[in-house]
Amino acid sequence: MNQALSYTDAHFNQYVDELIEFLRIPSVSTDPDHAGDVRAAASWLADHLNALGMQNVDIMETPGYPIVYAEYMVDPSKPTILVYGHYDVQPPDPLDLWDSAPFDPVVKNGDLYARGSCDDKGQLFMHVKAAESFFKGSNSLPLNVKYIFEGEEEVGSAHLPQFLKDNRELLKADVAVVSDTALFGSGVPSITYGLRGLAYVEVMLEGPDRDLHSGVYGGAIENPINALAKMIADLHDEDHRVTIDGFYDNVLPLTSEERTTFASLPFDTDEWVHDVGASKPRTEKGYSVLEGTTARPTLDCNGIWGGFTGKGAKTVLPARAYAKISCRLVPNQTPEEITSKLEAHFKKHTPDTMRLTFKDLHGGMGALVDTKSDAMMAASEAMEGVFGQKPYMVRSGGSIPIVSDFKKILGQETVLMGFGLDSDAIHSPNEKFGLDRFRQGIDSIVRFMDIYSKK
Ligand code: BES
Ligand code: MN
Ligand code: MN
Repeated sequence: MNQALSYTDAHFNQYVDELIEFLRIPSVSTDPDHAGDVRAAASWLADHLNALGMQNVDIMETPGYPIVYAEYMVDPSKPTILVYGHYDVQPPDPLDLWDSAPFDPVVKNGDLYARGSCDDKGQLFMHVKAAESFFKGSNSLPLNVKYIFEGEEEVGSAHLPQFLKDNRELLKADVAVVSDTALFGSGVPSITYGLRGLAYVEVMLEGPDRDLHSGVYGGAIENPINALAKMIADLHDEDHRVTIDGFYDNVLPLTSEERTTFASLPFDTDEWVHDVGASKPRTEKGYSVLEGTTARPTLDCNGIWGGFTGKGAKTVLPARAYAKISCRLVPNQTPEEITSKLEAHFKKHTPDTMRLTFKDLHGGMGALVDTKSDAMMAASEAMEGVFGQKPYMVRSGGSIPIVSDFKKILGQETVLMGFGLDSDAIHSPNEKFGLDRFRQGIDSIVRFMDIYSKK
């Protein structure tokens, strides 16, 4: 392990340069114009893994983007880890809000700015470099590793569950390891044991069959935007609880131990609100900001449009109103259940002057992982070795739906050892990844591999 740690130390700049090369490929999975770039990122990664001496490197096709597979099997009697990450990235828009070009990475004050630097190319690359440090520092790995890197995470991982089902034997491992989450704070180590799920829908209300003059018809024709705005406003009550029938039926409540732990975390609500640029928080009644953002289900309108939104004024009574709405789910809510409850709610409340169109866009399950497994203990010890303090066990409000499938399909627990920060601006302009955290991540993974190999 020590040789691997010193190898990283001596070659860190080279690791950063290689990551920069990887980040130059604009692998935006949601944009068909970037299909070639997404595939180029897969090839780049496969070539890189091959050059390191990984075994059985393969670009495994799916009906969508491929999964890059690689393994290195040292000894069947040693533990095996399955590392997951994603090489696709979010679109960089809005471009004019970036201080430097999203696919022309720059290092400023120790932070590497580029789309995907934190989510998730930089974080998956920590695993690749940790293995390299073992290969080159001590000629081998302490345990067996299998890697799956997918290119469709940011568009819902549609083909990954089937890939897991089709490759159960190939992917057999003792535990899955994922670095695609955040630290609790800068220099504050944490391991994530909970993720939220997601249910994403689009609704459309249609009144008249065409846009009308609001002077000639207004007063006798109901306006779809007015009607939809009211329906959306009514989705929360005065306690900021979601009003959809049965929304909370399957919510696994926070245990009293969890609530005590949450309350003891080094979290400053005022500072957090200030950083967000809001004047005050608004949580579901009875819950803290931390609970509200990680362990309670939510509903948010993500976008609303219709009618006239150009410059100046146009007196129109629009024919249609649209909204995109998503819910963050917690165990044991399912996206199917919540989507159908949302649909029933919208049907029930559609005024008899309107027609409703309801579309299910995508969804995924949340997850809670075993906090006491050998792999968790090894991860905790590894991070303590790097940060000088034991990591906190935290829940995250984001979603990585495949984690629940690792359990359901492969029977594997997952360790979520992520090194992002909420301030890394993932999915936003000026996404960054601190090089200190790139380093802490590699070192933590090196230590984890060594410690877990002895469990
Ligand atoms: N890495 C994120 C999820 C995440 C972010 C977890 C921060 C914990 C902390 C992932 O790439 C992501 O963006 N997931 C999407 C869901 C997906 C189904 C499109 C999300 O959470 O919105
Ligand atoms: Mn991610
Ligand atoms: Mn993401």
